[in-house]
Amino acid sequence: MNAPLKAREPITVPVALGNRAYEIVIGRGLLGSLGGAIKALRPGARAVVVTDENVAAHHLAATEAALTAAGIASSRIVVAPGEGSKTVATFERVCEDIIAARIERGDLAVALGGGVIGDLTGFAASCVRRGIDFVQVPTSLLAQVDSSVGGKTGINSRHGKNLIGAFHQPVLVVADTALLDTLPVREFRAGYAEVAKYGLLGDAAFFAWLEANWQDMFAGGPAREHAIAVCCRAKAGIVARDERETGERALLNLGHTFGHALEAGCGFSQRLLHGEAVALGMVMAFDFSARKGLCSAADAARARAHLAAVGLPTHVKQVPGGVPGVDALMDLIAQDKKVKRGALTFILVRGIGQAFIEHNVDAAEVRAFLSGAVA
Ligand code: GLY
Repeated sequence: MNAPLKAREPITVPVALGNRAYEIVIGRGLLGSLGGAIKALRPGARAVVVTDENVAAHHLAATEAALTAAGIASSRIVVAPGEGSKTVATFERVCEDIIAARIERGDLAVALGGGVIGDLTGFAASCVRRGIDFVQVPTSLLAQVDSSVGGKTGINSRHGKNLIGAFHQPVLVVADTALLDTLPVREFRAGYAEVAKYGLLGDAAFFAWLEANWQDMFAGGPAREHAIAVCCRAKAGIVARDERETGERALLNLGHTFGHALEAGCGFSQRLLHGEAVALGMVMAFDFSARKGLCSAADAARARAHLAAVGLPTHVKQVPGGVPGVDALMDLIAQDKKVKRGALTFILVRGIGQAFIEHNVDAAEVRAFLSGAVA
């Protein structure tokens, strides 16, 4: 794990899902080969690129040039950036525009963007003509290590995030790590919370490697491709074993129950980005596990120390404007989709790399913990 990293060859991670299997290709500068990769996979297919205004300004021209160079005819759909595009209205527009572009069953959509674009495009692809293929070209760290892999697609309902959607696997994921060079550092850092998550939930050696190598990853050295590949391999394994989240896949929600409540309590605003909420949520999951005697205080402190070292928030006091009180957070946790027949389900830990699913968590215990954590 601590061997020097030299290779900058693309890394291919297979997702073993039978007749829906696909590859995740990770490497610096891969965007230029996107057209060739699509042509090899779907000869003669046309493409529609779905992206947002911010990503379009940086990467749409290069994406279209890569498609043209491979002889692939393409059209574009550009939506507004941000979570506000995960709506029924934008979904309808994307579907209608895909149909207007005469994209047929044998053609495909290309999701060029972060998690919002991947979720929106994938869901539209799952519905248009009862399902067309799509390719993920994730442009954020969060999307490269998590949301572009595994086929969860969808939009938000007025009742909550991602409540309207479908499992629809991409046919290819192309993660060009150079695209992350243009991300604001705050956004890169927020995506890093999901990278650390893979170490914290199931791979103590990877967590130790991250403690030693995270700076190189931020700086764009070879640690970046290595870390993204480790995350994608871990996720590919989990998704292959539990595509529909009937069990093990829920481990990927480490930090997300507390995190979603904090994120919702801040109105899904720039005050607290999703990854920042996940960082806070993971610290809380470790502290709560330590309080329950499941995990050592030393491991909880180590998780917190690493997230703090990279500059992620590890205490709710660091959220500008503060977070809602215990009653509001408990209401938000109760609405979480992981609540089953009134019982709370949490991802807890027995140590670094040892997450497990705990059903029937006592709400009074959570409330008592939160009273200390948000005081
Ligand atoms: N982002 C968690 C999952 O894909 O299951």
